[in-house]
Amino acid sequence: MSSSTNKMWGGRFAGGMSAIMERINASISFDKKLAEQDIAGSTAHCRMLAKQGIIPAEDAEKIVAGLAQVLEEIRAGKFEFRTDREDIHMNVEARLAEIIGPGAGRLHTARSRNDQVATDFRLWVRDALDRLDEDLKLLQSVLIRHAEEQADTVMPGFTHLQNAQPVTFGHHCLAYVEMFGRDRSRAADCRARLNENPLGAAALAGTPYPIDRHMTAAALGFDRPTENSLDSVSDRDFAIEFLSLLSLISMHLSRLAEELVIWTSAQFGFVRLSDGFSTGSSIMPQKRNPDAAELVRAKAGRVNGALISLLTMMKGLPLAYCKDMQEDKEPVFEAEDTVALCLAATTGMLDEMTVNAARLRESLEGGFPTATDLADWLVRSLGMPFREAHHVTGAIVKIAEDKGLRLDELPLADFQSVHAPIHEGVLAVLTVDASVAARKSYGGTAPDQVRAAVARAKERFL
Ligand code: ARG
Repeated sequence: MSSSTNKMWGGRFAGGMSAIMERINASISFDKKLAEQDIAGSTAHCRMLAKQGIIPAEDAEKIVAGLAQVLEEIRAGKFEFRTDREDIHMNVEARLAEIIGPGAGRLHTARSRNDQVATDFRLWVRDALDRLDEDLKLLQSVLIRHAEEQADTVMPGFTHLQNAQPVTFGHHCLAYVEMFGRDRSRAADCRARLNENPLGAAALAGTPYPIDRHMTAAALGFDRPTENSLDSVSDRDFAIEFLSLLSLISMHLSRLAEELVIWTSAQFGFVRLSDGFSTGSSIMPQKRNPDAAELVRAKAGRVNGALISLLTMMKGLPLAYCKDMQEDKEPVFEAEDTVALCLAATTGMLDEMTVNAARLRESLEGGFPTATDLADWLVRSLGMPFREAHHVTGAIVKIAEDKGLRLDELPLADFQSVHAPIHEGVLAVLTVDASVAARKSYGGTAPDQVRAAVARAKERFL
């Protein structure tokens, strides 16, 4: 079975393409997502061709108007995307020819689908980065709000998921604000690096026509033309960098999701998700499951998969363009959709989440979270070397453990039985509130530091 020979390269082909060839070759099912960018690129290219006297002005006017009509048809859902026209570039151009006639054939002067697709895809990733930055900012704003509200709320800080030292819930939230802040700065770096115009590299070697690549760069919001024509059509670093960024974001979201899963369990009960972000069980009526958090955690796997797909697809390709590179789009589109959904779900969960401050305080009861404060007191008030203080503290913790008491409940005599010079001054440092309040170092968990950090975070990020 063969379809017609009505193809852009029809000149030297006698027979049509086999149906299977058409199927493996076509990318329109997914690259139609590049329609807006494709038309923007073609419009800029056409205006430049006319300005440079490469094509007649009357044809250029018709082309620009025709492209605008194609765009309208696409936006209105009236455009017929055809597999026999292979990809978005040929679909748009073929429809343009139907609308304006043979003059449409002048649009493809001094360019190739190779520089065209490189341009479209960069423009698409650039838009995606801008949306991503907005989404990350929104998530940060919710985290900062919790940080402000919970600047004084004590909770166990963990290492090895064992109670380590008391921190505040606000401080914990701000840790994620930093992570997502770094992600935003990575997005900005990625954007700055990709923002160069490949259009005009043509198939791979540049073009003999007197084109103006600076003009198309400016029209498309690029900072400058790319330097090397071979690199322009064969570089997909920007897509890989974008996917690395999405992987990092997914990893951060997954860690946060894991905390939500732990925190919503009955054993922890630190927070409660809203009904809107919980699911029930069909058999156990008491259940409130954190499905959204679990799915955010799970979906990180897909995003990592997309990154590995692209790295693997690119790693053996000789210069310049190879058709392999058509496979760059689906992983990027899929990962972008996934991360956008995960960001929305996480922001939604956090926005409606309530914090159980009493439960957070209660969970500090076990595990002697102020033991480090006791050791620090021995160093600061009695001049003891830290290693010895660590040892003395261990012996005191053992007594408290045997008696089933917290350190701030233990009688002074028990402290003195381990080390006689200990006096009642020690009692002031053993409560969790004293512990967090003491951690006033820059970036520390003291409520005053958290409030100052919230103010800085608003300045830096919102
Ligand atoms: N659909 C193609 C892609 O996405 C466009 C470039 C085709 N170039 C070519 N020489 N066949 O990569």
